[in-house]
Amino acid sequence: DGLTAFRGEPLADFTIADMRAAFPAAIAAVHAKAGRVIPLSIGGKTIETADRIPTVNPANPDEVLANVCQAGISEVDAAIAAAKAAFGPWRDKTPRERAEVLLKAAAIARREIVALSAVQVLEVGKQWDQAYNDVGEAIDFLEYYAREAVRIGTPRRMGREPGEKNHLFYEGKGVAAVIAPWNFPLAISLGMASAAIVTGNTVVFKPSSLASLIGHGLVDIFKEAGLPDGVFNFCPGRGSVMGDYLVEHPAISTIAFTGSMDVGLRIIEKAAKVHPGQDYCKRVIAEMGGKNAIIVDDDADLDEAVLGVAYSAFGFQGQKCSACSRVIVVDSIYERFTARLKEACESMKIGPAEDPANAMGPVVDASQQAKVREYAALARQEGKILVERGLDAKGYFAPMVVVEGIRPEHRLAQEEIFGPVLSVMRAKSFDEAIEWAMSTRYALTGAVYSRSPRHLEKARKEFRVGNLYLNRNSVGAMVARQPFGGSKMSGVGSKAGGPDYLLQFVDPRVVTENT
Ligand code: SER
Repeated sequence: DGLTAFRGEPLADFTIADMRAAFPAAIAAVHAKAGRVIPLSIGGKTIETADRIPTVNPANPDEVLANVCQAGISEVDAAIAAAKAAFGPWRDKTPRERAEVLLKAAAIARREIVALSAVQVLEVGKQWDQAYNDVGEAIDFLEYYAREAVRIGTPRRMGREPGEKNHLFYEGKGVAAVIAPWNFPLAISLGMASAAIVTGNTVVFKPSSLASLIGHGLVDIFKEAGLPDGVFNFCPGRGSVMGDYLVEHPAISTIAFTGSMDVGLRIIEKAAKVHPGQDYCKRVIAEMGGKNAIIVDDDADLDEAVLGVAYSAFGFQGQKCSACSRVIVVDSIYERFTARLKEACESMKIGPAEDPANAMGPVVDASQQAKVREYAALARQEGKILVERGLDAKGYFAPMVVVEGIRPEHRLAQEEIFGPVLSVMRAKSFDEAIEWAMSTRYALTGAVYSRSPRHLEKARKEFRVGNLYLNRNSVGAMVARQPFGGSKMSGVGSKAGGPDYLLQFVDPRVVTENT
């Protein structure tokens, strides 16, 4: 097919002087443009609405980075109509033609990697390296799905019966609603949207209102990449106004969603109901939450384990569905591990992500901040506080909390917090640790630090999560290397960045010719 083999983007490396030097200038440029209006983009046209939501810097909520126009029902209708009109011609292009647009988009995102990272530093409070790696992951999705589309795009001859020819091939389904989260605002947005697009669907994209400035980056990227008008429609709007309407709309055939379990389950329920004029059984791909555990065995390498747990729990303030929110420590190593974990947590600097010295920044908004504070109070009741550190500053800073004495029946062991709150659980044996690790309704990520081949083998079999990591941290899955996604209440659909993902966006067809 003439395409080179997929290779992932290199991760952020601030020992490279140019990379280090580029960030402050790019961040300054985002500050300088603060306050501009972000319009909708429907059928290639820019549309301004009167209803606008400010998107702010969580480290300094007085700073309005942009005022984002909000779609009402009529704009959603227009976006769906534009996507519907663009569908036929786009579906009928070759997979290779569609893949070329993604490859161009990847090159544009690569050129703009620091600028796109800087927006994340300010709009969602992501640390420099994490922001850079989010853009890197977005590029990886584009590069990987382009190749995957070509791979699955060749009609496959089925069977060898004399007198007939059977060909299996895949076709785009129609208009997809892509509903994106704020925590991996470019990677997950571009990942879901590009998967739909490259398989021949057209898209109505709803970014999170907390990350719509980053979301708008998709408009620029796809436009410059030469995507035909109407294939990608940027449609920010209030969930309460247009969320259900978009999901329930009879012209939507696929919904790709990443976000909370509550919203995901609501989408699944709404999408199941058939409305007048609807001629598709809607497919829902939903990546939802996690209550992820890391097990520290009695013979674990503690240098590695402490680092891995702290990074998985507090990187980007724990606001990842992959984040570690429970560490299950085997009894005989408990005191040694927790003493060192405490030290490590106390040494992490807290402050705005704009300053790369800070390892932990603000949470994304006031409601996340309030939620973390509530769970901090609950932690005091259910367990014993090992670490509680805050930052008395303007901005949505929430405390870093490490709480001991948590058992599987506690709420702290069961509910996804999506913030910097880590429950420490003391298990009497490795077997009990595995049992506890599996004692939630989620099954997304997990990790085990152990030197025992027998225990690692047991974990492989019985620690049944979508992404299990042995002797490393539990975050930062890489496209094509660690296809990402969970089961149980963590989601429905197959793994992002993996070989089955695109198949969710297509209808398989078979043509049999009597020869
Ligand atoms: N893919 C991300 C991770 O693995 C989470 O969405 O951390």
